[in-house]
Amino acid sequence: MATGDVLVDFRSDTVTRPTAAMRAVMAKADVGDDVYGDDPNVNDLQDKVAALMGKEAALFVTSGTQSNLCAMLAHCQRGQEILTGENYHVFIDEAGGASVLGGIMMAPMPTDETGALNGDDIDRTVKPDDPHCPISSLLCLENTVSGNVQSVDVIDALALRGKAHGLAVHLDGARLMNAAVKLDVPVRDIVKHADSVSLCLSKGLGAPVGSVLAGSREVISRAYRVRKLVGGGLRQAGLLAAAGLYALDHHVDRLADDHANALRLAEQLATIPQISVNVDAVQTNMVFMTMAHDAAASLPAYLQNKGILINGHPSRIRLVTHLDVSAEKIDQFVTELRGFFA
Ligand SMILES: Cc1ncc(COP(=O)(O)O)c(C=O)c1O
Repeated sequence: MATGDVLVDFRSDTVTRPTAAMRAVMAKADVGDDVYGDDPNVNDLQDKVAALMGKEAALFVTSGTQSNLCAMLAHCQRGQEILTGENYHVFIDEAGGASVLGGIMMAPMPTDETGALNGDDIDRTVKPDDPHCPISSLLCLENTVSGNVQSVDVIDALALRGKAHGLAVHLDGARLMNAAVKLDVPVRDIVKHADSVSLCLSKGLGAPVGSVLAGSREVISRAYRVRKLVGGGLRQAGLLAAAGLYALDHHVDRLADDHANALRLAEQLATIPQISVNVDAVQTNMVFMTMAHDAAASLPAYLQNKGILINGHPSRIRLVTHLDVSAEKIDQFVTELRGFFA
């Protein structure tokens, strides 16, 4: 759908378009060839994210998927194994990249209703030192998980449980800033036990492209090689890095607005009898609503005619708030929903 035809897009926080102020910064960005290490904005962005995360170094990459892939291949060799959540992005949504390109096994573990792994499952899943088994090497955590914040205590306990088994720890923090804003803690406090952490700039932070992987100099230098291997060495990437810097300077605190809007949305949905929504479960920018299958099947097309975009799902529909979703647009959406059920 052309931009002008869309009233509001709830499919994801990845759908935001750069603001006029962000575009102005991009247009003026000083650039150099980043494969030569010459791009000042890329260098500034990497330094900034490394400092934010309390890590030695950072690497600008094209996407969250590439960031996680670089981390997994930096930490693991062929025949090794990654422990992670059965519903975590690295396991179900990244085309099996670690296995396809790295010869790495994935050991998925259950998560509870808050998205958290269980420490005892880590103990049970780590393989013994036995030639029959893959070598358990990395624990991949995620924060937020489907909008659920993982507290500092939860992340600390899981990371330390993994480390007790000699695992390195990677945190997929695609929406880590949402967690930090919700918890009201410096982001470095959440990731202090992680050996690497990936942050997406192109989700709630509103940049058009890019993620940053942070970690020790050693891990980042290995990740740098993987990025090159997968064709992710970019040239005048400063145009994009400038957007990322702008996002970190201007779009972090405002994530609280997205969280407030998600709550507003959930509270209004709860007043529609045909919809079931757990208002208390809304922590950041995601709301999940369920409804009868026939309604869920016809709703996306009905709303699209009104300029409202949602993802289809047999019954449980995810709605995401972001930079381009205002309280007023939420109210308009709810009015259209009432019309649909009427
Ligand atoms: C938790 C999580 N990790 C990683 C990614 C991958 O990001 P990208 O779409 O930039 O590859 C996503 C994307 O939605 C995500 O939700």
